[in-house]
Amino acid sequence: MSDEEKVRKGLVGVIADESRVSSVMQASNTLTYRGYSVGDLCDNTSFEEVAYLLLHGELPTRLELEKFSSAERENRNIDPGLWKAMQSFPMDSHPMDALRSFISLYAMYDTDAHLSQLDKASYIKKTIKLLATVPMFIAWDRRRRVGLPFVQPKQSFGISENFYNMCFAEVPKQETMKAFDVSLILYAEHSFNASTFTARVVTSTLSDYYSAITAAVGALKGPLHGGANEAVMQMFDEIGSPEKSEAWTMDALLQKKKIMGFGHRVYKNGDSRVATMQKYFFKLAELKGDTRYRSFYENVAKVMLREKNIHPNLDYPSAPVYRLIGFETFFFTPIFVMSRIAGWSAHILEQAEDNRLIRPICKYSGAKERSVPRMDAR
Ligand code: SDX
Repeated sequence: MSDEEKVRKGLVGVIADESRVSSVMQASNTLTYRGYSVGDLCDNTSFEEVAYLLLHGELPTRLELEKFSSAERENRNIDPGLWKAMQSFPMDSHPMDALRSFISLYAMYDTDAHLSQLDKASYIKKTIKLLATVPMFIAWDRRRRVGLPFVQPKQSFGISENFYNMCFAEVPKQETMKAFDVSLILYAEHSFNASTFTARVVTSTLSDYYSAITAAVGALKGPLHGGANEAVMQMFDEIGSPEKSEAWTMDALLQKKKIMGFGHRVYKNGDSRVATMQKYFFKLAELKGDTRYRSFYENVAKVMLREKNIHPNLDYPSAPVYRLIGFETFFFTPIFVMSRIAGWSAHILEQAEDNRLIRPICKYSGAKERSVPRMDAR
């Protein structure tokens, strides 16, 4: 079988296209957004600046950031018809299903949802609308599920602070907000991951922006992808106490279970984002005086490295950060969505600007050609 005919299940190792948005460098275990290392961005910028960078290709000047941030704050409103529809969302639905449905419904209320594909300004405008309303929806959905009233957005707050205030009705400590903002920067973009590639496939048919985002949310929900951060916290809760981590993990490996938060399709010697998220995780744990999650975190990782030489991915440190901040586990993946809107949108724009329908071929392995027998001969 020639190399061309070799089936690469899961598209492992297949270079499907070029992109200028980010570079995941396996050899050096580094990640850059438009040429800037994510560690540098986490220490020196905000999520808003990174969202602007991903969309426009350059970091914003002070004036550009003010305009971008004002546009986002001015879009923190939801059509009354959509608010009405949201009230019927089942309280026991999966938060990712609710969020996916919200985006689908939001599209129907956006008058320019189907503007022409090549109108960069309209893509940016739609991205800003989702950067503004997705956090609002997540906070509203969380508050109603825990029996609390909706907290109105505050124009004086940026994306991270506003989301925190809408969730907890209080202004966060600076260190807490920094850890959260860093998680949004690290979750924002990661080249051709499954959900981003899904968004590009949908865009390649010249379908609309919201259809591409909705499809990406569906892909991200899976526990092999974005759903892993929730599964990490479910794992810690199931282990129960840090000293049981070794036995629990060994038993799970014996049963050939996948340990959530570990492994990666591209990084095989560790996810370059983990060190940065871990730094802020440990700082937050110290600030909160809660070292319990750090013990789980270090104990399970020790077993995975010793037994399988498999390293953590970003979902592993982000899960305890979200627990320490106070988010319920079922909101961890929606928070991933809130951030990845930026990366998905940058890729949707890039695909639309230089499009070719994405349509791979498959190697047929079904029945040989045959004729149709009469009914009584079947
Ligand atoms: C994200 O692509 C991206 O960039 C995604 C992401 C992003 O920012 O968009 O980085 C975000 O999705 C991170 C990944 C989150 N998912 C998880 O944490 C789920 C657990 N991880 C695994 O399911 C797995 O590591 C994947 C899905 C992430 C990668 O799978 P691959 O590349 O298909 O590798 P594989 O499943 O073929 O594993 C190779 C070997 C296997 O052993 P053998 O069958 O060959 O003996 O490693 C083992 C696997 O069993 N293995 C694991 C493991 N991950 C791989 N064994 C136990 N636990 C694990 N987590």
